[in-house]
Amino acid sequence: MLGIIGAMDEEVAKFKEHMTDVEVHSKASMDFYKGFLNGKEAVVVRSGIGKVNAGICTQILVDDYEVDAVINTGIAGSLNKDIDIGDIVLSTDTLEHDMDAVSFGYPLGQIPRMDTLSFTADEHLRKVAKESCDKVLSGVKVFEGRVVSGDQFVSSHEKKDWLVETFGGYCTEMEGAAIAHAAYLNNIPFLIIRAISDKADDSASMDYPAFEKMAIANSVTLILEMAGNL
Ligand code: ADE
Repeated sequence: MLGIIGAMDEEVAKFKEHMTDVEVHSKASMDFYKGFLNGKEAVVVRSGIGKVNAGICTQILVDDYEVDAVINTGIAGSLNKDIDIGDIVLSTDTLEHDMDAVSFGYPLGQIPRMDTLSFTADEHLRKVAKESCDKVLSGVKVFEGRVVSGDQFVSSHEKKDWLVETFGGYCTEMEGAAIAHAAYLNNIPFLIIRAISDKADDSASMDYPAFEKMAIANSVTLILEMAGNL
């Protein structure tokens, strides 16, 4: 069973339209849509925004649906001048950029008493995602790199520069690392797939609503194809 998490209704609505044999169950104020996507048994859910919602949602997917992989779909702000609006970022790894226990000797981003700075995405999911991109998203550039997540909409060049200098992030959003964190604790493979809606700088709050729909469409097209190949 494949788990697919989007933070917002807009990010999961299209999956629901493509699903067959759908059953809906609710828990923790989240609606879990179980059925088949492109022949693959899957459960699609809107987690809500931010790391806590995303972590809770992932744990429910593990406990109640026994998912064997989790994909996080959605949009993100670009942190790299080569990565443009509409392009796709597949996570190599991800971390929580707002975790700060530097006073205790941990590097920024590292959760104290955990054995890793970042959570590594699954190789097989990355490979299938890359192949699916090449097949169904011609003209869209695909990048593989670090996704940095935090409970912040990043919309200033100062913060953006800090995220790049500190973590080498390719894009920033608000859920991916929490999903990865929960997947890691449960030993479940994960991948974050984000389409770029803005540049995470002073233009972000203007660009975001203008490009949100197009970015979401790219991400959905890719994951529908992927589901058929998993
Ligand atoms: N999701 C889309 N754009 C974002 C940004 N600039 N910061 C955080 N999350 C985002």
